[in-house]
Amino acid sequence: MKLPLPPLPTALQPKPKRPGEAEQAKPVEQAKEAGITAVDWIDERTSLSGAARWVMFRKIPKGTNWFYTLGSATMFAFLSQAVTGVFLAMYYDPSVVNAYESARHITNDVWLGEFVRGMHKWGSTVMVVLICLHMARTFFFGAYKYPRELNWVIGVVLLILTFVMSFTGYLLPFDQRSYWATIVGVNINGTGPLAGPFLSDFLRGGAEFGATTLSRFYAIHMLLVPGAIAALIGAHLYLVARLGTTAPPWLKAESHEGGIREERV
Ligand code: HEM
Repeated sequence: MKLPLPPLPTALQPKPKRPGEAEQAKPVEQAKEAGITAVDWIDERTSLSGAARWVMFRKIPKGTNWFYTLGSATMFAFLSQAVTGVFLAMYYDPSVVNAYESARHITNDVWLGEFVRGMHKWGSTVMVVLICLHMARTFFFGAYKYPRELNWVIGVVLLILTFVMSFTGYLLPFDQRSYWATIVGVNINGTGPLAGPFLSDFLRGGAEFGATTLSRFYAIHMLLVPGAIAALIGAHLYLVARLGTTAPPWLKAESHEGGIREERV
């Protein structure tokens, strides 16, 4: 038998309506109102809406086209790598004895493991392709010129760091292919002028390729470089918001009365 519910405490009971008082808003309306109040509450204390407006409501030049989405596409590829990487790190074990087995376990036993590992593996290639296309776009549109040189330099560092991610990630499955390919890669680094031998020593973690190498590659791959990439993307996007984007070169060439057309239309 179902027992009757106890009465609500007085404080929680709805107040009786006063004569002439307006109809109370429906729960959905109340919920929407609550959302606005919460955003207002945060904004009053942080003034974040100003920063959000500054970043998102910008004038963009005429002629902006699909090629301008390559930077954001690269950023989403990076975010996808970060998210799938976190899930892989929950199962991966960076020790010489268990690394291969833990990677095999992710693919064969963990729920959606093969899918997440596949996304991470193919995502790395996608990110490299996108970053190169984005760099080509900014190069051919002349976006590296004054006043955006610093953003180009930050971009070059991002490119190198993306390659470092691919290189350090390749060793982690610790199978025959990744082991020998990484030895070749580290040896190639060693042939570089002046810094080369120090770099390959640093990567190996000593004279021999072994357990320290793997944990070193893992730390670089999942802590050092992603952190640096995230910080540099922040700086890169700050400069994009601050300086605006470049108009396509053919529009600049079409300028009226001989002068260069104003870029930030
Ligand atoms: C993780 C890597 C990168 C991310 C997430 C990224 C993101 C972006 C975004 C969202 C934009 C604005 C929209 C656009 O033009 O596509 C941009 C602009 C720019 N990026 Fe990148 N970028 C990256 C790497 C690079 C690289 C490798 C270079 C060149 C070496 C570069 C140079 C530039 C320049 C010069 C601009 C200004 C474009 C303009 O004013 O028209 N970026 N980036």
